[in-house]
Amino acid sequence: MVLGKGLYIKKYQVYSPKLPLSFDGFRFIFISDLHGKKYGKNNTKLLEMIYKAKPDCILIGGDMVVGGISRRCKEGYRPLSKETVNTSIDLIAELTPKYTVIHALGNHEEKLHPALWDEYKSKLKELNVKLLDNEKFSFHRENDDCIDIYGLSLGKENYPKFRRNKLSLDSVEEKLGAKGGNYTILMAHSPLYFETYSRWKADLTLSGHLHGGIMRLPLVGGVIGPDFFIFPKYSGGFYTENGSNMIVSCGAGTHTINLRVFNPPEITLVELKFGEKLHGN
Ligand SMILES: [Fe+2]
Repeated sequence: MVLGKGLYIKKYQVYSPKLPLSFDGFRFIFISDLHGKKYGKNNTKLLEMIYKAKPDCILIGGDMVVGGISRRCKEGYRPLSKETVNTSIDLIAELTPKYTVIHALGNHEEKLHPALWDEYKSKLKELNVKLLDNEKFSFHRENDDCIDIYGLSLGKENYPKFRRNKLSLDSVEEKLGAKGGNYTILMAHSPLYFETYSRWKADLTLSGHLHGGIMRLPLVGGVIGPDFFIFPKYSGGFYTENGSNMIVSCGAGTHTINLRVFNPPEITLVELKFGEKLHGN
């Protein structure tokens, strides 16, 4: 149930003097935490919003599906998991003929039943999706200009409930290596480790996971995170630390607690700009 307005596009412009000039004005849609939700038959409303935004590519920050293992179901997973995999694939199949689609993993992809994960991966491969499981994709433009896009798979141990975890810089470097000299976008599903991402020197981190904190209060932001801590620091919006920026999507869907109060589902449109000014709206 959504109290307040429905799905909308949240827009940001992000400035950096490190951005190659040929990427000035580069636009991408960032989708996170859809969890198999449909907006219109076959997600036509969501697709129309994307087409209208005229992005240069699509970035997916994970949790497109609902994961989990079920001993009660003979396949080993709930039918809901399979449905969300199908919904995600159907949506992505509409996008790949028009756009480069780059997909990082959320905690729900990481906890999909192995058979379902293999099925999801092979369908993404057929669709020529760049699946970044601790990998890098370099997006090239003319004059050999490029920006680097990384997908960090945090591992199940970094999504604890009822307690907070620390993520070391070493563990990020072990998975991704040291950051290179290009302008770098890091897709890392949980925003809770922003300090570490900033020390890795990500220019722009894209996260989700907290679903905006289920309910949003003016001046406060999100109320509760999936780890059951109240008033999470990075529940949704634009953040800066150590010269590094982060955009946290409030997410496009829900699961388990199907409630969003004054916390509309969102997809995100980001425009990269060459220069010093930094702001979100
Ligand atoms: Fe999620």
